[in-house]
Amino acid sequence: MVTLEPLDPVAHRDAVVAFLTHNAFPFHSGGTPTASEVLDRLDGEGWTHAWWVRTDQGERVGIARLDDIGVDVVPDETPLFDLRLGEGHRGRGIGRLALRALTDQVFTQFPVRRFEGCTREDNLAMRRVLTACGWVKEAHHREAWPVTGAEPMDAVNYAVLRRDWESGTITPVRFDDLPTWRSGVTDLEDRDEPQDGSCTRRASPG
Ligand SMILES: CC(C)(COP(=O)(O)OP(=O)(O)OC[C@H]1O[C@@H](n2cnc3c(N)ncnc32)[C@H](O)[C@@H]1OP(=O)(O)O)[C@@H](O)C(=O)NCCC(=O)NCCS
Repeated sequence: MVTLEPLDPVAHRDAVVAFLTHNAFPFHSGGTPTASEVLDRLDGEGWTHAWWVRTDQGERVGIARLDDIGVDVVPDETPLFDLRLGEGHRGRGIGRLALRALTDQVFTQFPVRRFEGCTREDNLAMRRVLTACGWVKEAHHREAWPVTGAEPMDAVNYAVLRRDWESGTITPVRFDDLPTWRSGVTDLEDRDEPQDGSCTRRASPG
């Protein structure tokens, strides 16, 4: 078991600096940050909703944090997580316990419908954890992840829906939703869709 302990970016400043500067993060842009970089980040956004990942023995083994979420959270917001375990605690199945605890935390504490994660294509441990926890791959962004001194890599996005979390189901992505279109004859004709191929309608407001 792991638990999430609220992380206070002011009171826990030194501990966060020590954790982030003493561990390597090869799949994060910038790798291991310097102390001043961590302090800059702690002064910025992204630490309003953050937790230590703690083992049953009370040891702080990682940090979980949310981006893209405000203070007064509304259902339309979709938080994005960052999860980092210390090097000595990786490869022991803690990641999936932490992600399950974080998902429970988010859907219990906030009214949001969706919860997202994004990682680099070659972060296989993170991707296996996401899949093991019932998250669904929704997007594959080609060359979207800048890599210092090298070619950019692909980024992959996963998400979990509140209703899937509540019911224990997995709703697949409808990637094949576009109706067949054959030389002027289309099964779009009976639908309320533009017939000229234009993209004037949106899937959702916004
Ligand atoms: C990503 C992370 C949270 C995963 O948690 P973890 O507890 O280390 O995960 P595990 O080691 O149990 O690995 C999960 C799975 O990936 C597999 N795996 C791990 N490293 C792998 C690799 N290099 N290649 C292939 N598979 C790998 C494990 O064998 C395990 O497989 P299983 O599902 O069959 O059990 C953790 O490694 C971490 O904090 N990494 C550094 C920070 C980071 O990259 N965070 C992601 C940012 S969102």
